[in-house]
Amino acid sequence: MNYRHAFHAGNHADVLKHSLLLALVASLKRKPSPIFVLDTHAGRGAYNLSGDEATRSGEALAGVNRLQAASPKSVVLREYLKALADFDPQASMRRYPGSPCLLQMALGTDDRMACCELHPEEAAVLKASLGRDPRIAVHQRDGYEAIRALLPPSQGRGLVLIDPPYEAREAEFDRALAALDQVLSRWSTACIAVWYPIKDRAVVRRFLRAASALPAKSAWDASLMVRADSSVLRMNGSGMLVLNPPWQLDETFQPALIELATLLGEGGAGRGELTWLRLDGRRVEA
Ligand SMILES: C[S@@+](CC[C@H](N)C(=O)[O-])C[C@H]1O[C@@H](n2cnc3c(N)ncnc32)[C@H](O)[C@@H]1O
Repeated sequence: MNYRHAFHAGNHADVLKHSLLLALVASLKRKPSPIFVLDTHAGRGAYNLSGDEATRSGEALAGVNRLQAASPKSVVLREYLKALADFDPQASMRRYPGSPCLLQMALGTDDRMACCELHPEEAAVLKASLGRDPRIAVHQRDGYEAIRALLPPSQGRGLVLIDPPYEAREAEFDRALAALDQVLSRWSTACIAVWYPIKDRAVVRRFLRAASALPAKSAWDASLMVRADSSVLRMNGSGMLVLNPPWQLDETFQPALIELATLLGEGGAGRGELTWLRLDGRRVEA
């Protein structure tokens, strides 16, 4: 477990993932009944963009900082920037919220969330980042195993975010697929979002093909490329596969994706695509 998200916080992948995450929660919150959120790979919750790790990688400069310097038109991106400003009221552009802190801000009084983080130091920082919040439980444990322990929740509606580090490359795609299947078998109506890096196209194609055999009601995939597919060693883009997406969110998110491709793409090579999966309803072997 060498992965530390502090090196990557606020990069183009975080911008895609976090803007979509907020849009997902906002859609779910349109109905009045409480929701449950499970963040299986939560990270440390808050990041310092002027810290050693972030400045060494410089990834936020080509990601969230570029968006902050622009005035995006899409509602989704404006809401995302508003959440960042609420998290960093001094407008220092240094404090960046990870998924648990963004979700914490978006939850209502009766909503509940469980966050899992396996790394002990990251989990300790996560607890401090979230503070004492009776709506939220932080577990220092394997997020994949937590699916069996924590689902289904008593709230009928909600979201599972699966955001693994992909250190094990292809094997992590397989684990994510097995996790998707397990979530659906325990909580068939859950909206599930899984983030994945785009390095090797063949791996991504296999992943999406296998995902289309999952027993979800519907699914779409949102991908953001910031460079052309040149090398399989570099993350040229990333995607979020959303199973059981909220109604019409595809229409709301599409303009954000196109705008992100323009703003974050290198040398005009950015590309944002939202594609519906043709589900065939067969189960995936876990
Ligand atoms: C990509 S980062 C998460 C970033 C976070 N979701 C966000 O958006 O701010 C992945 C995290 O998963 C943790 N991790 C790795 N394997 C795990 C596992 N099996 N269960 C839970 N956490 C794990 C890593 O320590 C790392 O902090």
